[in-house]
Amino acid sequence: MKTSFLLAASTATILDFAAANALPNPQPYPPPHSNEAYSPPFYPSPWMDPNAPGWEQAYAQAKEFVSGLTLLEKVNLTTGVGWMGEKCVGNVGTVPRLGLRSLCMQDGPLGLRFNRYNSAFATGLTAAASWSRHLWVDRGTALGSEAKNKGVDVLLGPVAGPLGRNPNGGRNVEGFGNDPYLAGVALADTVTGIQNAGTVACAKHFLLNEQEHFRQVGEANGYGYPIKEALSSNVDDKTIHEVYGWPFQDAVKAGVGSIMCSYNQVNNSYACQNSKLLNGLLKEEYGFQGFVMSDWQAQHAGVSTAAAGLDMTMPGDTLFNTGASYFGSNLTLAVLNGTVPEWRIDDMVMRIMASFFKVGKSINNLVDTNFDSWTDGEFGYVQAAVNENWEKVNYGVDVRADHANHIREAGAKGTVILKNNGILPLNKPKFLTVIGEDAGSNPAGPNGCGDRGCDDGTLAMEWGSGTTNFPYLVTPDTAIQNQALQDGSRYESILNNYATSAIQSLVSQPEAIAIVFANSDSGEGYLHPDGNEGDRKNITLWKNGDDLIKTVAANNAKTIVVVHSTGPVILKDYAVHPNISAIVWAGTPGQESGNSLVDILYGKQSPGRTPFTWGPSLESYGVQVMTTPNNGNNAPQDDFTEGAFIDYRYFDKVAPGKPRSSDKAPTYEFGFGLSWSTFKFSNLQIQKNNAGPLNPTTGKTIAAPALGTFSKNLKDYGFPKNIRRIKEFIYPYLSSTSSGQAASGDSHYGQTAKQFLPAGATDGSPQPRSPSSGEPGGNRQLYDVIYTITATITNTGKVMDDAVPQLYLSHGGPNEPVRVLRGFDRIERIAPGQSVTFKADLTRRDISNWDTKTQQWVVTKFPKTVYVGSSSRDLPLSARLP
Ligand SMILES: *[C@@H]1O[C@H](CO)[C@@H](O)[C@H](O)[C@H]1NC(C)=O
Ligand SMILES: *[C@@H]1O[C@H](CO)[C@@H](O)[C@H](O)[C@H]1NC(C)=O
Ligand SMILES: *[C@@H]1O[C@H](CO)[C@@H](O)[C@H](O)[C@H]1NC(C)=O
Ligand SMILES: *[C@@H]1O[C@H](CO)[C@@H](O)[C@H](O)[C@H]1NC(C)=O
Ligand SMILES: *[C@@H]1O[C@H](CO)[C@@H](O)[C@H](O)[C@H]1NC(C)=O
Ligand SMILES: *[C@@H]1O[C@H](CO)[C@@H](O)[C@H](O)[C@H]1NC(C)=O
Repeated sequence: MKTSFLLAASTATILDFAAANALPNPQPYPPPHSNEAYSPPFYPSPWMDPNAPGWEQAYAQAKEFVSGLTLLEKVNLTTGVGWMGEKCVGNVGTVPRLGLRSLCMQDGPLGLRFNRYNSAFATGLTAAASWSRHLWVDRGTALGSEAKNKGVDVLLGPVAGPLGRNPNGGRNVEGFGNDPYLAGVALADTVTGIQNAGTVACAKHFLLNEQEHFRQVGEANGYGYPIKEALSSNVDDKTIHEVYGWPFQDAVKAGVGSIMCSYNQVNNSYACQNSKLLNGLLKEEYGFQGFVMSDWQAQHAGVSTAAAGLDMTMPGDTLFNTGASYFGSNLTLAVLNGTVPEWRIDDMVMRIMASFFKVGKSINNLVDTNFDSWTDGEFGYVQAAVNENWEKVNYGVDVRADHANHIREAGAKGTVILKNNGILPLNKPKFLTVIGEDAGSNPAGPNGCGDRGCDDGTLAMEWGSGTTNFPYLVTPDTAIQNQALQDGSRYESILNNYATSAIQSLVSQPEAIAIVFANSDSGEGYLHPDGNEGDRKNITLWKNGDDLIKTVAANNAKTIVVVHSTGPVILKDYAVHPNISAIVWAGTPGQESGNSLVDILYGKQSPGRTPFTWGPSLESYGVQVMTTPNNGNNAPQDDFTEGAFIDYRYFDKVAPGKPRSSDKAPTYEFGFGLSWSTFKFSNLQIQKNNAGPLNPTTGKTIAAPALGTFSKNLKDYGFPKNIRRIKEFIYPYLSSTSSGQAASGDSHYGQTAKQFLPAGATDGSPQPRSPSSGEPGGNRQLYDVIYTITATITNTGKVMDDAVPQLYLSHGGPNEPVRVLRGFDRIERIAPGQSVTFKADLTRRDISNWDTKTQQWVVTKFPKTVYVGSSSRDLPLSARLP
């Protein structure tokens, strides 16, 4: 089947769900049910700071450009043209007068979706498993350069939300593991790479979008859950700061140009109109200078969202293909009638254009968008939604450069060896057998299922919008066979999981080594392979994988288990099975899958460490995806009562020091991974630096600048005669200039800002700074290095190898996690006998806790201990912080 057909099919699915989604009410304010979690107001929406470090020049360039724009042009830049209204998954209106083409937003976090001649990178989770900062920057740079060369301006990634609270959360795999420190460093490094390459990065999804179930009303209704509002993640202020917000704060510090607000509600206020989150946390406290764009159809109101800090609506229409928008002409009108202050629309456009200039773009020097999302053909309709403007749309520009080398290396270095009784590395084995569908190809081809929405053949990425088309996919079967032929090994593979007797007789032959493959897949909620509605139903293996492994291991004492998965699976029995000689987690490695795996199986590369805990059961994690609405037809209420205690923080709390065999302890703990050599840790040294006390930020912002003037006469905003109106396309013009009511098409028209916006929302006077704010990333002194920790690592084995030293901190105090990650490095190629120094800087933020009373990061009085070692549970060195 042609991809275009499948594409259309999956689009139709989305549309069906969308149709079921009646236009929801704007955010109730104050909330109707006083017993439900509630989000406090934060207004006005902070405007850009001309002196924000790293943004000064971009601000000046944007100011010059924006000052010359008309109101209609400004609105154009904030509003998507509608679903399938242009070539990218999202496009805004143009500024033809000044030669600015439509800005293109394209998925996603592991490469360019709906594309050809692009690379398919490893998922975030597999990238995270390398614990390698230079590989993260390289990955980002390669992603950013592919985007730029296709004419994409904003790449919709990287991801740190979901963070991975729920072990079976469908999209955890798009992010960098569930530790906020690890995810924060990886998120920031990826942003740096993408933006250095000249593309605006979009850190997403902000915030607390920890599961697919109930994230969108229409989608949930399509599955038969009759909810009327999306799920609300109810989370306390301390946990938001210390866990879920943390990585985004790092991204802001790294200068990220855009952030996508998520589908879910937070404390019963939609994330794209939650003023506490967008205005208070992101723009004021974190000092975010870029723009907030909505997730696709995550905007549920107009004026209120603008006031709450939303800067761009995507894809622009209220729901896909309604032809109506909460922004577009409604925003024009709202500025004209004074509901949205002029400074707010100016700030929205300033943020968009400053991000554009910050990554080095210029108006007249943009690569034309040379691909089309909606067809594989050379020609297509530019407005695919309505079959308008047939032209050449796909130019087949090959943007892959030499990225395959990076993908192969990163895939290998992100593969984790969980068990090895000495069988690895393989060395010219006499007879190798490979068992399992997950080693082979999808009979329909690597891109045979739209948005990778099936689990056929080897698993190398998740399903959903965070996917790409593979340019090719090297399967494990192919790559291992190639190596076997080179070595003169005998090689046989059986790729049918149900060919039990053939498998039994093959693997029981003398001298056979059996590599058995199985997987577990997940993805985005609009697809539901095998009944998994985005999130995983369970954390066992798919397609009879567990029986397959048991069959092989019962007949072969040299069994190697290889798992491809989007998160943890249950390995408890395999960890202690005498015939299972090795367990390898190959993650979801992208296009070079088989080659990356061979590089590990044969010891040509050094492996990675697990960025999440492998628990003995789904229940052992303490939390999991909510799959039954718990609030009638009202918004399901997901109370994050566990606070910071997710993943290893939870296991360490309930089963400290328990052995692997325990029902409560991890089978393999966070940070764990075997390698080819052994390392000794010694000589822990702590140096205290005199950074002085933290000075809370005080004073006020500048007044909100208004850039330019405009006519207040409705008649000047009608539809121009020289533009042919395209159906469903979203324009900034008023469809009627007779009255505001007629132009808006909104039966509630006429409400003033006073009537439906909270106090202060339109106030453009200088505003007080919050104590923890200051610069992008927050108060500059949060990043003062308070302690420098060093330790010596000696390779005590026989081969050159990489070490991944990890530093954990105990904050002390009765309600804190036993310890949390606060430093790591991947030190490459340490020779046998060689000693190297591991160095970690502990910043003020690293050693602080969030104090909800003073709204500041505070170093508590409790004694603090640092630990250094090779995983969250193997920590030979420790010392009190002086
Ligand atoms: C959600 O409610 C909790 C509990 O009142 C509060 O601590 C937190 O700051 C709120 N967060 C948001 C974003 O409203
Ligand atoms: C807004 O964008 C549309 C679509 O690209 C374009 O046709 C129109 O001319 C733009 N309007 C203005 C005022 O620039
Ligand atoms: C303006 O927004 C309202 C919803 O608030 C919507 O019903 C209406 O269609 C929009 N108007 C236009 C012209 O898009
Ligand atoms: C101004 O326009 C907005 C957007 O259409 C509308 O929601 C609001 O009710 C209008 N207010 C007044 C006072 O006309
Ligand atoms: C877990 O889900 C997978 C995928 O849907 C399925 O193949 C498997 O049978 C399920 N496992 C159990 C124990 O139900
Ligand atoms: C291990 O494999 C051998 C065949 O080599 C088999 O006889 C034995 O029963 C297996 N052990 C287990 C525990 O399955």
